[in-house]
Amino acid sequence: MTERAAAGIGEAWRAASRRIDRLDARLLVEHVVGCTHADLIARPETPLSAEQSAALDALVARRTAGEPLAYLTGSAMFHDFEFHVSPAVLIPRPETELLVELGAKFATERARTCPAPRIVDLGTGSGIVAITLARLCPQAAVSAVDVSPEALAVAAANAARLAPAVRLLAGDWYAPLSGERFDLIVSNPPYVVSGDPHLALNGLPFEPQGALTDGVAGGDGLACIRAIVSGAPMHLAAGGWLLIEHGYDQAAGVQTLLRAENFSEVQSWQDLAGIDRVSGGRRI
Ligand SMILES: C[S@@+](CC[C@H](N)C(=O)[O-])C[C@H]1O[C@@H](n2cnc3c(N)ncnc32)[C@H](O)[C@@H]1O
Repeated sequence: MTERAAAGIGEAWRAASRRIDRLDARLLVEHVVGCTHADLIARPETPLSAEQSAALDALVARRTAGEPLAYLTGSAMFHDFEFHVSPAVLIPRPETELLVELGAKFATERARTCPAPRIVDLGTGSGIVAITLARLCPQAAVSAVDVSPEALAVAAANAARLAPAVRLLAGDWYAPLSGERFDLIVSNPPYVVSGDPHLALNGLPFEPQGALTDGVAGGDGLACIRAIVSGAPMHLAAGGWLLIEHGYDQAAGVQTLLRAENFSEVQSWQDLAGIDRVSGGRRI
């Protein structure tokens, strides 16, 4: 039986659960019908229209083919906020919470001596880092840069709803920031080595490759991080911090790059899985 033949939302959920993960099935039914989990339990007989049944069928087929749920529903949660996402942007990852928590800590400390700390998020994608920092540190002036106009359009839609004061700029890392200095630079750049076999797994082929890899086949994945670290001294105020999210095995490499640019207090921080996930340093 397909979802098209389902009598109501409860039966549609059961039928979809036979083809995909039960939670994914539930979220797709809720997305298509516009109902809640409570509706599914309390009123399973609520009918689906023919259009809703067809839409659900199509989404279940795409999920079966491996497309990430967030692209099917068009949304993802990050730090208590719901963000619009599309295949133009990386789907928010839970480990990026660490970058945001550290960024909020340093920005709050900075606000003790500088009333409106300037923050920039390089490679903003859907805008999760810049927008969440703007929400956590309302006194900060937050900018966000991305090279992808399609990604910036997604970030703009999210900013309009969640943090309209965030300034969005198109360009290559620091190119749109000529002459500007910041108290905090944060970035979750592409850091997977181009050609890494993991790029074929777990829905990654559906995500923008320019958001995942540094584009250098057979390299160390650090090409974008090199550009961000080497440009940072020109764009950080004295005492300002640079914080970069990176791969599970890249902390030592990122620390070496930071020391080569004379950053002080160079260190790495671990995510909830105990993996060195963010490295950073302070401009003297
Ligand atoms: C790993 S994604 C991070 C997205 C978002 N900050 C997050 O944490 O979910 C990296 C982002 O960097 C952007 N990017 C790649 N190369 C860039 C460049 N040269 N200049 C600016 N942004 C770039 C990509 O378009 C992508 O949105």
